[in-house]
Amino acid sequence: MRDPYAWYERTSAEFGPTFSARALNGDLVITGDPVLVKDFFAATEDDVKQFGVDAAGPVLGERSVLLSHGDPHRRSRRLLMPAFSGERMRNYGERMRAIADELSDGWRDAGEFSVHEAMLDISLRIIVEVIFGAREDAQVARLVQLTTTVLEKIHPAMLFARKLQFGAFGLSPWDKFLRARAEYVEALQSLIDARRAEDSDGEDILSVLLRARDDEGHGMDDEDMIQQLVALLIAGHETTSIAMSWSVYWLCHTPAVDEQLANELSAHSEKGQDLSELHYLGLVTKETLRMWPIVPDVLRTLKRPFRLGSIELPAGMSMAASPAITHYDPELYPSPHEFRPERFETFQPRPWEYYPFGGGIRRCIGAPFATFEMAQVLGTVLRKYRFELADSSPVRPVRRNITLAPAGGVRARVIDR
Ligand code: HEM
Repeated sequence: MRDPYAWYERTSAEFGPTFSARALNGDLVITGDPVLVKDFFAATEDDVKQFGVDAAGPVLGERSVLLSHGDPHRRSRRLLMPAFSGERMRNYGERMRAIADELSDGWRDAGEFSVHEAMLDISLRIIVEVIFGAREDAQVARLVQLTTTVLEKIHPAMLFARKLQFGAFGLSPWDKFLRARAEYVEALQSLIDARRAEDSDGEDILSVLLRARDDEGHGMDDEDMIQQLVALLIAGHETTSIAMSWSVYWLCHTPAVDEQLANELSAHSEKGQDLSELHYLGLVTKETLRMWPIVPDVLRTLKRPFRLGSIELPAGMSMAASPAITHYDPELYPSPHEFRPERFETFQPRPWEYYPFGGGIRRCIGAPFATFEMAQVLGTVLRKYRFELADSSPVRPVRRNITLAPAGGVRARVIDR
């Protein structure tokens, strides 16, 4: 829980890339061996369900794509995935760049600030405007505020322990969470009502999802929609902002990479350019997600016996594939501790050799959105500013809510380019 990267490094050095471990929620077989990871990602809905989420339903939504399994999960993905296809992302570039530009204006006079907090603000505004489709300033501001409040009220332990989900005359953390959630759900419901009433062909993700139909021609009802929107928020907000903070961190620590990226950005400074087309920027984001994969292990629990390489696993057992091990395999990634975006010029990893977004039946739905957002936001702010770290000593990932974020948030100041 505390420092999975160090634990994975130590344990795989001692036992090799595949070993078993006792976790809080049960026994696990963990692997970072690409051959076994390939088998892991081949598991079907009949083979696996999620690991350790039994208590998370009342927080994340039983019907959401994060918590459902089997047919309901397949249906959720079928409805959600087209909205996140690579081609659709082009509709959002201009909005994402405008948000990054506006919110980064204050950084010049901010002195030393937390890059991670600043990136959280940007990624939240992007979710509220691009995914939820909020339009008027007052509506955007209210949703940003309600989202911040509800996220603050989710205590990570609530996701794992039903015992913490108790009321106490309106005063327990659970009561406070339920109140914030109710207000939040009401705000999402009004967005949905407004979109349904318009019958619009809007391009925001909510509008696209309202038009989505499953194989039987049915769409999502309001309760489904709300649970999916909350799931997208939880899965997409912190993750993307952490990734962007690490990019800034690595650029500060590797001046040659920073310079090459700055040259690319100044050679492509036309207004309105889709920054996801920039080659070197793409390599920088890819290497960022290799270095400290934000989710260090992806987990599944077996519904029936399953073979991982030559290992027979019984039903009920859980298994994990760990990019924190695979991404540091020196055979695949020479000098794995060095930030070297150009390694991907010549090396095209296969899906079981590089998997910051997991894989198989639960691969991250937001991967095209996240990589597109990283390019638009990083490109926009790095065109304007050079970052200088407040402290040049190494920063490690530490647990922050349900993800692992840079300790101290990457404190830096900016200087105009
Ligand atoms: C850099 C940013 C991100 C990273 C590193 C990341 C990583 C991941 C990982 C590792 C998983 C689990 C995959 C598995 O179990 O095989 C996942 C699942 C998911 N992610 Fe992301 N994610 C990111 C951004 C986003 C964004 C922006 C969204 C949506 C807006 C999103 C939506 C989801 C959803 C809905 C799932 C659940 C998929 C399922 O269970 O079927 N993610 N993500």
